[in-house]
Amino acid sequence: CGIVGYVGPRRAREIVVDGLRRLEYRGYDSGGLAVVDDGRIEYAKKEGKLANLQSVLDAQTPSESGTGIGHTRWATHGAPNDVNAHPHLSADGRVAVVHNGIIENFATLRAELEAEGVEFASETDSEIAAHLLAREINRGSGLVSGLRAVCNRLEGAFTLVAIEAGDAGRVVAARRNSPLVVGVGDGENFVASDVAAFIEHTREAIELGQDQIVEITADEVYVTDFEGNPADYRTFHVDWDLSAAQKDGYDWFMRKEIFEQPEAVANTLLGRFTEKGDLTLDEVRIPPEDLRRVNKIVIVACGTSFYAGLVAKYAIEHWTRVPCEVEIASEFRYRDPIIDPMTLVVTISQSGETADTLMAIRHAREQHAKVIAICNTNGATIPRESDAVIYTHAGPEIGVASTKGFLTQVMACYLLGLYLAQVRGMKYGDEIRAMMGELERMPGLIQQVLDDSQPVLDLAAQLKNRRSVLFLGRHVGYPVALEGALKLKELAYIHAEGFAAGELKHGPIALIEPGLPVFVVVPPRGRDQLHEKVVSNIQEIRARGAKTIVLAEEGDDVAERYADSFISLPPVSTLFQPLVATVALQLFACELATQMGHDVDQPRNLAKSVTVE
Ligand code: G6P
Repeated sequence: CGIVGYVGPRRAREIVVDGLRRLEYRGYDSGGLAVVDDGRIEYAKKEGKLANLQSVLDAQTPSESGTGIGHTRWATHGAPNDVNAHPHLSADGRVAVVHNGIIENFATLRAELEAEGVEFASETDSEIAAHLLAREINRGSGLVSGLRAVCNRLEGAFTLVAIEAGDAGRVVAARRNSPLVVGVGDGENFVASDVAAFIEHTREAIELGQDQIVEITADEVYVTDFEGNPADYRTFHVDWDLSAAQKDGYDWFMRKEIFEQPEAVANTLLGRFTEKGDLTLDEVRIPPEDLRRVNKIVIVACGTSFYAGLVAKYAIEHWTRVPCEVEIASEFRYRDPIIDPMTLVVTISQSGETADTLMAIRHAREQHAKVIAICNTNGATIPRESDAVIYTHAGPEIGVASTKGFLTQVMACYLLGLYLAQVRGMKYGDEIRAMMGELERMPGLIQQVLDDSQPVLDLAAQLKNRRSVLFLGRHVGYPVALEGALKLKELAYIHAEGFAAGELKHGPIALIEPGLPVFVVVPPRGRDQLHEKVVSNIQEIRARGAKTIVLAEEGDDVAERYADSFISLPPVSTLFQPLVATVALQLFACELATQMGHDVDQPRNLAKSVTVE
């Protein structure tokens, strides 16, 4: 869900819709906007994509107003339809409000307002904010003091942005547990859920803190807390290129982001090594003695970020010899996990706004664990609420399904693992130095996978319209299999499952039937028996008629012997194979979904940033 507000000399309608378009990547199911015009509020809202809203607007006489707010909604309370779309207006049409988040005490507040005779138009929790605000204003409050009073009644997570019919030239916004930034322009100002909405107009921004209210006019930005006291805030300059938020000639943002991975991964590594070749993580301001005391690492994350954590576990435990658990963030706090000040919690989130992950780290910090966030979004809530942050520096990820987010997360986790090993003086000095060298070679090897991607694309053309696809892997290849299957579910809406290859014989092998496509990630041929074991697994499924698609190191003729299709990967050590194998699976899913005619950047039912639990 996205939010935009504007005050300035230009037509707010156009600036707001444009801003909403730039936030489309966040995922949404309806859109709307409102402007203050001639003592009245004019508004339009529509289910579906912004093109639907645009047609409604095109049929209206364009308003010249320079004060407006807009919203794209991802449904939580109430179905995605025109009525539940934002903005919500008070019954007298005096105020319009847009909201992101969830108001947890909405049932009580709704009952209170209904007892006073207020009639609700929608099923949303958000609408109560409009009625509450109108009530305050009708009792004599101004727009800002009215919003402050409303915020003090609300429980839960919210970004609220409001305008009032009699107050042209002013937009107010409030923030609790939900993102909000201000864009400071020249004779015009903006509020938005992220900077992409306004970087075309200004690169000067203000990040609002928790429980703050901002009031913008064309010339002024004024920030207070929920008590009305002037509040501190952080200003920053946005150095992302506008072009980074555009497709650069690719058919999909996702494909562009897949191809950006060599650069993204190189950026994650930038500035992390000293001249002597030691690893430095300046942002990790947790004293080394605290890191030496750590006796357990717990990684919490959701979706693709969770799979990045599963990959990282193998490396972190191997390098640090500290037990490392990986847990889905939404499960974490509800099972009363055993954590204490000696636990290091590592949270992985591309957006830095995922509510499940945020709640998990709050729980961890209450138990006095130290929290390090691995995040791609500067100034997002999760890094703000963590003890330290390692930014992945992948640049904005717009495709809903994560790609460069994943690779750079794995990279950042590896940096952290090696750093911990270094700080704790682990005895494998040489191995660690070799790993650092390998890290630095990764951008070139990822590029090689992209350059040789034709066989994967051809395979996608052959496999479209299959009903089911399986993915197998062992060791770090197992989370790669899970991620490969997730990509296919997300983009192609095909039933796909990832299994640990060794577990297949304990049940899932019953699914194998003639012609079923099964991807197998084969570890590099090395010292251990992993390679042999996986090759036996391929034989087992092939004997039962599966169509085997084997991803293995180039020149691996043993694995190739049992492959119906062979996807060759550059030679890397086992721990680094996910960084090349996943790229091939991302390309496969992207191409298959394209061939099937799906919207790759905005798959059905999914949102980029899920800010509700
Ligand atoms: C959503 C997205 C996924 C993503 C997950 C975690 O569900 O659709 O692609 O992996 O959130 O997001 P995060 O921003 O916390 O990494």
